[in-house]
Amino acid sequence: MIKIVNIVGARPNFMKIAPLLEEMKNHSEIEAFLIHTGQHYDDKMSQTFFDDLGLPKPNIYLGVGSGNHGVQTGKIMMELEPILQEIKPDLMVVVGDVNSTLAAALVAAKLGIKIAHVEAGLRSYDWEMPEEINRVVVDRISDYLFITEKEAQDNLIKEGVDKEKIFFSGNVMIDTLLKHKERAEDSHILEELSLSSGRYGVVTLHRPSNVEDENVLGKIVDALLKVQDHIQLVFPVHPRTNKQLEQFGLKEKLLQSGNIKITEPLGYLEFLKLTKHAGFVLTDSGGIQEETTALQVPCITMRENTERPVTSRIGSNKIIGNSPERIYEECLEVISGKVRKGMIPEQWDGKAAQRIVKVLLGKMQEKTV
Ligand code: UD1
Repeated sequence: MIKIVNIVGARPNFMKIAPLLEEMKNHSEIEAFLIHTGQHYDDKMSQTFFDDLGLPKPNIYLGVGSGNHGVQTGKIMMELEPILQEIKPDLMVVVGDVNSTLAAALVAAKLGIKIAHVEAGLRSYDWEMPEEINRVVVDRISDYLFITEKEAQDNLIKEGVDKEKIFFSGNVMIDTLLKHKERAEDSHILEELSLSSGRYGVVTLHRPSNVEDENVLGKIVDALLKVQDHIQLVFPVHPRTNKQLEQFGLKEKLLQSGNIKITEPLGYLEFLKLTKHAGFVLTDSGGIQEETTALQVPCITMRENTERPVTSRIGSNKIIGNSPERIYEECLEVISGKVRKGMIPEQWDGKAAQRIVKVLLGKMQEKTV
């Protein structure tokens, strides 16, 4: 038996691990474990995704919750170490770039457990993003690096990673999107929010660089208030952003805007349907840049850079920073019909998990002969 421990912790991890677990089930020689750190714990940030994606209940739930980076990372490491010593896995699979990814990989590396990093090699070259630190460290200590786009290989090679460790597998997040795209149509989210297909924009916002400073967040809110004069906006609010909006007295402004619908965080299927039918998406998320590219829905990214350059090079994404004038101009351009649908990146074909598990099985079997 090959024992594989799979780690999830935060919202964007769930859709990445789902197709991998499913593919592992197809191989009787694999014994797969799922460990949830509890970095995200609200039903709407976690359980809803387990339900929507048919994820199995985790074998172990660490329940670490929120905290400063040191506290959160440290707590996960302390809780996870004895569990891994007990399970003695042959391999750990980590996905993405959240604090749970980093903490789990550090523990495994010190215990001599092989690590596979899915979504490796992405770089924003912006050290102010906590995720950039997580990405670089996790890649450095991983044994098998699965990349979603070719640029990632150049980043890794520049950092001295052996080419033999890198596998261009495609994008597991897009495996999940393609699998559920039709099913998402059953969601009634458009009716519930009284929206008509193609005639609204979706807004998401949660990066510390956009929401932690009152002045920055205030200006983004002002831009949204101008855009809503031209098109209806839907804004599912992340818990971090919600706290900041309330603290800075900005939530009221949004609630009274008239043409902006504020909602709680949405489930996977609801959000997929909302995005699929949107005229455009205005976001600072990493994953949504990829999902909109796969759906060929115009995406405007309120960041100075992206670690996912394929989405703007060939996809539907445009990186614009966060100045309110630019946000307004870019939204108006899309509203006036200047849309960029883009093309689908190579290997984003729904088969990434199959490729990854095949490579891992080969590697694990090599080890035992
Ligand atoms: C984390 C990831 C980020 C990812 C995002 C997706 C890191 C460093 N960041 O950011 O890469 O894009 O998840 O959502 O790992 N909170 C709740 N309920 C929850 C979870 C969080 O209320 O279930 C609130 C807490 O106040 C918490 C804050 O949100 O302090 C931030 O949560 P945290 O997990 O630290 O970071 P995210 O901003 O969610």
